[in-house]
Amino acid sequence: MQTQDHEQFAHAVLPSATADEFSRQEFVKSYKKHLATQVSPNTKVVYDTQIKPAFEKEHGRAPKNRHEIRKAMNGNNHYQTWSSLLRTSQEMMWKSCQVSVERQLGDLIAASKSTKSAGGTLKLDPNLETPRYHTAVDIHCQPGGYHTEIVDDDVAAGAVYDRAVYVYAMGQLGPMNDDMGASTVAYLKHAYPDLAPKRILDLGCSAGHSTVPYQAAYPDAEIYGVDVAAPMLRYAHARCESMGVPIHLSQQNAESLDFEDSSFDLIVSHILVHETSTAAFRNIMKECHRLLSPGGIAVHVETPPFKDMNDFDAFLLDWDTYNNNEPFWSKSHEIDPPSAAKDAGFDPEKTFEFMAPSAFEAAKAKRTNVFQGGDFGGGGFWYLYGFQK
Ligand SMILES: C[S@@+](CC[C@H](N)C(=O)[O-])C[C@H]1O[C@@H](n2cnc3c(N)ncnc32)[C@H](O)[C@@H]1O
Repeated sequence: MQTQDHEQFAHAVLPSATADEFSRQEFVKSYKKHLATQVSPNTKVVYDTQIKPAFEKEHGRAPKNRHEIRKAMNGNNHYQTWSSLLRTSQEMMWKSCQVSVERQLGDLIAASKSTKSAGGTLKLDPNLETPRYHTAVDIHCQPGGYHTEIVDDDVAAGAVYDRAVYVYAMGQLGPMNDDMGASTVAYLKHAYPDLAPKRILDLGCSAGHSTVPYQAAYPDAEIYGVDVAAPMLRYAHARCESMGVPIHLSQQNAESLDFEDSSFDLIVSHILVHETSTAAFRNIMKECHRLLSPGGIAVHVETPPFKDMNDFDAFLLDWDTYNNNEPFWSKSHEIDPPSAAKDAGFDPEKTFEFMAPSAFEAAKAKRTNVFQGGDFGGGGFWYLYGFQK
């Protein structure tokens, strides 16, 4: 994998980095690339030449699934080393971005308050309860998760996330971290060329990375984003406004939203589902059904599901469940869209699944197709599934 040929797109609230901070973040990015290209592939070699033959000798058959592979690999030195290095890269990534945000937090908060020009809105709800699936663990080792606030008008979680996503993805989401939204838009334009949504809702919009591309794609639509985390929304609001993109953001739980029935023509989510509990997923799908107008479309974007993958790749992709504070990762990659459609009240016949090519061609060309976190697996493809009402 070569080094990327762009830097992150600057906007009013993107944290700056001193030379030391920047080189620390760049180190994490290079370190992750080194793991993906030089260390991770040998895990397969170790499996094929040592672990699988030993398993076959003992059991008289090959491992049946990713769980048996994981149990067999857990004691292996090479796997342990790779796993430990990858976990370390995750912790280093957060730290390298956090230090820089802490240094300039006052300035970022001031900038977030003064950046209002595009016509978007922000509605926070200090009484909203953060779901237990976010308070029980620091999701993907992000210190304090998305929701923690330390000072008034805090934007730190959003600022850290914006930089950390760029480092995590090794630049492969593009300069604006918007590859998931852009890839989904490209799919929708192709599959539903007549779709002209008047109102679009992005669930779990975070810093608004994926929300923004819908504005250029559907310039006549009103775009809404919801998230449970206030610091993400404050940051998203300032970021979108400074980019001239009007988005209406509100702090709400996607399981129970305050919008009227049938009030959206397009509902999207990007890597939200794997961070919600199984019960929450069901509630969110039901909300999608309630909120969509007849003929409206809901699309959910994730990394590829296990079902179309060989067991070894599935084992590698499942690493996050056991090692990266992603308790719902495994289950979310086993979702069966037609069953989910039926549960939520959609017609299962109107379910779709699609592997959407990355819209960010440069990133696609450089992806390793190693199912290691941050490379997103799938060789530059996003897994989209959804329903038409
Ligand atoms: C991985 S981030 C999403 C990234 C974002 N969609 C993007 O494409 O850049 C998950 C986000 O979902 C939010 N979230 C999780 N559960 C939620 C829920 N039940 N309702 C609303 N937001 C939720 C989290 O606060 C977090 O900001």
